Amino acid sequence: MQALILAGGKGTRLRPLTVYTPKPIVPVMNRPFLLYQIEVLARAGVTDIVLSLSYQPDKIEDLLGDGSDFGVKLRYLTEPAPMGTGGAYRFAADEIRETTIVLNGDILTDLDVSGLIEFHRSKGAEATISLVPVEDPSAYGLVETDPDGRVLRFLEKPKPEQLADITVNTVNAGIYVLEPSILDLIPSGESCSFEYDVFPAIRAKEKPFFAFIIADNYWRDLGNPKSYLEAHHDFFDGKIKGFEVDRSAASDIATVAQVDKASVIGAGCVIKPGVRITRSAIGPGVHIEEKAVIENSVIWGHTRVSSAAEIQNAVVGKSCHIGRNAVVGDGSVLGDKTSLSDYTKV
Ligand code: GDD
Ligand code: MG
Repeated sequence: MQALILAGGKGTRLRPLTVYTPKPIVPVMNRPFLLYQIEVLARAGVTDIVLSLSYQPDKIEDLLGDGSDFGVKLRYLTEPAPMGTGGAYRFAADEIRETTIVLNGDILTDLDVSGLIEFHRSKGAEATISLVPVEDPSAYGLVETDPDGRVLRFLEKPKPEQLADITVNTVNAGIYVLEPSILDLIPSGESCSFEYDVFPAIRAKEKPFFAFIIADNYWRDLGNPKSYLEAHHDFFDGKIKGFEVDRSAASDIATVAQVDKASVIGAGCVIKPGVRITRSAIGPGVHIEEKAVIENSVIWGHTRVSSAAEIQNAVVGKSCHIGRNAVVGDGSVLGDKTSLSDYTKV
């Protein structure tokens, strides 16, 4: 069993965070995001993993290397230009000789992948798509099934008029099991989408195409800053199980600073007296001066927060400078190297 992670998108909806950091390696609780997917695959014994890249591929490869640090074997494929999700799978055809787990590279989940594989085999499927119920399905790929779990219809990002006659709220969770025969449905060398082209073609050819419902596992698409921050809140609330959070990093934390148990602090931080940190992820090498308050927020590495600044429910990129008494409020997202002068409110 192999895996292919689709990690070539530009991450436009996650800007400004993705200007210098491609989406697959944005830090989540201070770990590059892809490590969560790699861990979930490795748990199911899937250790042969191809990363399909297009945007800033070198940064991803430099960080993850050959995968041996994480107990897997990573290979990298970079498209000359983005070929779409289905095109990226076809582009990897030379590497794909067996049943393959294909994942959208921006899904945070603790799914038991072995259960998904078992389901695929038990149905004799050529393609299995995992589904998850959501409140507002319009931003996703909608999937209708029959009572046996056969896929009847796939409708990507339905328009309001199409939504009217849809009664299901189960959407494509971006995790598939595909037999190599699916490659024959995809033209080589052309841009092609799983969602708009390949899934409708699998239906049209009446191949065995089944849906697996993710019921009891955590699932989230990390595609925009709000969702990125909420993923952290879910970690703080203990809603994501099964991943260890590394709280062992050595930092210089003043004894009269308050850091709650939910928060995670990266290596080499300096946290001065009177600072209060609650439900937050602080990256490596961050300096936080006297009496600053940080709540429900994510701060990337090497940022400096000056005295009495307040950061609430916000994401602050790498190497920023937050001036004295500045207030960074609800939902703010600051790109790398942002500098806020003293007393600024954003
Ligand atoms: N290699 C490569 N090449 N990867 C790509 C390309 C490409 O041309 N285009 C997109 N990707 C990768 C992205 O990096 C991302 O990890 C994944 O494919 C999905 O792209 P998104 O841009 O995040 O799609 P989406 O979130 O709008 O919708 C998709 O995911 C939803 C679930 O989160 C669809 O698959 C929906 O049907 C699904 O519901
Ligand atoms: Mg997405």
